[in-house]
Amino acid sequence: MSGLVLGIETSCDDTCAAVVTTDGEIRSNVISSQGVHDRYGGVVPEVAARRHLELVNLVVDDALRRAHADLDDIERVAVTQGPGLVGALLVGVATAKGLAAARGLPLCAVDHLQGHVSANFLGPEPFEPPFLCLIASGGHTFLARVEGHAGFEVLGATLDDAAGEAFDKGARMLGLPFPGGPAVQRLASEGDPEAFDFPIAAGVPGLDFSFAGLKTSLLYRIRDLGEERGAECRADLAASYQRAIVEALARRVERALEQTGLPRLAIGGGVAANAALRERVGVLGVEVAVPPLELCTDNAAMIAGAARFAEPLDRAAALALDAYATGARGL
Ligand code: KG4
Ligand code: ZN
Repeated sequence: MSGLVLGIETSCDDTCAAVVTTDGEIRSNVISSQGVHDRYGGVVPEVAARRHLELVNLVVDDALRRAHADLDDIERVAVTQGPGLVGALLVGVATAKGLAAARGLPLCAVDHLQGHVSANFLGPEPFEPPFLCLIASGGHTFLARVEGHAGFEVLGATLDDAAGEAFDKGARMLGLPFPGGPAVQRLASEGDPEAFDFPIAAGVPGLDFSFAGLKTSLLYRIRDLGEERGAECRADLAASYQRAIVEALARRVERALEQTGLPRLAIGGGVAANAALRERVGVLGVEVAVPPLELCTDNAAMIAGAARFAEPLDRAAALALDAYATGARGL
């Protein structure tokens, strides 16, 4: 067996390793969600880093085993360099550096956001550029023009919170567990999305997003309803709040499709797992690619996949590789 890329991703709270062929076929994609952050209502950076340290070697071994491969079969090592939590990223970077140095393998540093975009290029049905790409996760929300396999042009981004953050913060206000997206979606399925009118940042010009006003609006609405009435309306609040996030995303996508003339759309990031968003972008009248759920949320297959189109670092740069919290694009 040859032509395998080992990917490692530890930018937030999921410890991930994957094996992908140079043709983009996923041989394994192991995601160990830490599950220790729920009690804090969000990810605690130091806890995430320590947990990555405990898990990373086990997760890499598991990814190799599931791919029926060992390190002799690996042709290239890929790791997320940033953006993300630096302490968490450093665990993946140090692991990848060590593996590459010990085995004399080329090392590729991959941008996490490029990874989300590149999830579309993986088999069995790769979505080929050019296309418009919406990435909406817990840390990022942006629209990109994708014209090749390496790189993308940011057309617009959130001015404040990410869409996933809006789900997470809204969930907390509604007394739902972390991460908020799946919990809001579940509760929303029992509610009326038209019951409350939440703002969708209609006044924000261009292709940027804003979710801070929406979050504040939910806070005031819950306060105004009072405890008893608020509890009765929880499902309606969740459904209306979800609808506002989905509309805010979908309308910017519509505007971007119009402005760029790009004929196709791909969505990614954790929020792309949202059923209402998937349904909404499905009726925009363009061809839409929605990667499977495990490729929307953080994973290492997208990192290994992106490395297929990246230049490996030279030996000195590989040994000196450092993590970054914020990327060159300011995202
Ligand atoms: O991409 P991701 O796994 O990690 C980051 O890079 O942030 O995204 C996590 C985010 C969280 O904010 C989570 O609440 C949101 O994605 N999310 C969802 C759903 N599943 C995950 N949001 C809405 N609906 C979902 N079904
Ligand atoms: Zn992500």
